[in-house]
Amino acid sequence: MSDALKIGIAGLGTVGSALVRILQERKEKLAITCGRPITITAVSARDRTRDRGIDMTTTAWFDDPVELAAKADIDVFVELMGGAGDPADAAVRAALSRGLHVVIANKALLARHGVELAKMAEEKGALLNFEAAVAGGIPIIKALRESLTGNTVSRVYGIMNGTCNYILTKMQREGLSFAECLKEAQRLGYAEADPAFDIEGNDTAHKLAILTTLAFGSQIAPDDIYLEGITNISIEDIRAAEDLGYRIKLLGVAQRTETGIEQRVHPTMVPLDSVIAQVDGVTNAVAIESDILGELLMVGPGAGGNATASAVLGDIADIAKSRPGAQDVPVLGRPARELEPYRRARMRSHEGGYFIRMTVEDKAGVFAGIATHMAENRISLESIVQRPHKHVDAAEPKTIILVTHATMEDAVRKAVAAIKGDGYLIGEPQVIRIERPREA
Ligand code: HSE
Repeated sequence: MSDALKIGIAGLGTVGSALVRILQERKEKLAITCGRPITITAVSARDRTRDRGIDMTTTAWFDDPVELAAKADIDVFVELMGGAGDPADAAVRAALSRGLHVVIANKALLARHGVELAKMAEEKGALLNFEAAVAGGIPIIKALRESLTGNTVSRVYGIMNGTCNYILTKMQREGLSFAECLKEAQRLGYAEADPAFDIEGNDTAHKLAILTTLAFGSQIAPDDIYLEGITNISIEDIRAAEDLGYRIKLLGVAQRTETGIEQRVHPTMVPLDSVIAQVDGVTNAVAIESDILGELLMVGPGAGGNATASAVLGDIADIAKSRPGAQDVPVLGRPARELEPYRRARMRSHEGGYFIRMTVEDKAGVFAGIATHMAENRISLESIVQRPHKHVDAAEPKTIILVTHATMEDAVRKAVAAIKGDGYLIGEPQVIRIERPREA
């Protein structure tokens, strides 16, 4: 058996602790599978005294993760601290500049600096693996980076934030408020340190930016993503969606169009009979549509210690099995120097169906006014429903729900602005885009 692969781990939170435990418990099995033992030589974490339920007595401890990356006697640096800035950034650069292989679960760092880091790794002949950065335990990076080589991808989309999917599922099933469901997701350890990153869509956006580059061979463009979170999704929206045959999911979508690449993260209505509508709780799902393969849909655990540690472990094992010094796979699917400039498609040109929910004064001409503005903007309606707001009482406001056929975002924005201008709306209208999986 070859020499042991020596790894250093920076960050012993939920994921880091799970990884150490699994590496210790499955030591013999991994050594056989990888053809060499994997040993944890060094670790770094903020709190040395915390009981993590793992034995670290024979492992070197570094207070400073950058020092670990720069000086420890290791072959692989595993970064599990998170965050796009230092110390994660400095530590990964220190490791790559020594020619160490690097494994990270850090989507923010990759979304911000992924191209530069990929160039560094490729120049040094080091591997930079990041399976855990997108959709937790689902091997989506490997699928796009390796398995689909030669395919032309037209769309990649999915549920990539376990916290949001958990919240939306719990609201739908139990009729609980958004705040109650978020608290529970935090208690279960799914949410980011700052849950705003989850619920406002930034976490999904970071993941999407990485997938876009792998799918389309363009530069990573995290600031060119249309972004809406789930904070203003109400039980009323969830119920209305169900009645109309849809479920609401927070999707990240990257799509090739005639005018460029669309990258968008927003609450989305998906047909109830589609597979993605059935993906519940913390589970993630990513679909890839490509010309040779057709549609590939991968579903699996997207958040939590074990799911993420499983992906990190796979990345470490790939390094253990690789030929010494061989930089087999370009980090971002194609060599970093050959990534194309990102060409952004305008959101106003997006084409799709729309759900529009409005609370209106109950008076003559409202329905006709709404229908007129839709017609003026050449928007064809799939359905239109009027409901009592709270009680069936002539004086109460009414809820009007429209579902459009495929139309241009620009037309919807103009029609909604005209409706608002008429003065009969109560509060803001809710507009939710509809996404149709290829199978639906
Ligand atoms: N907070 C993230 C989620 C963890 O909920 O999916 C995995 O990136």
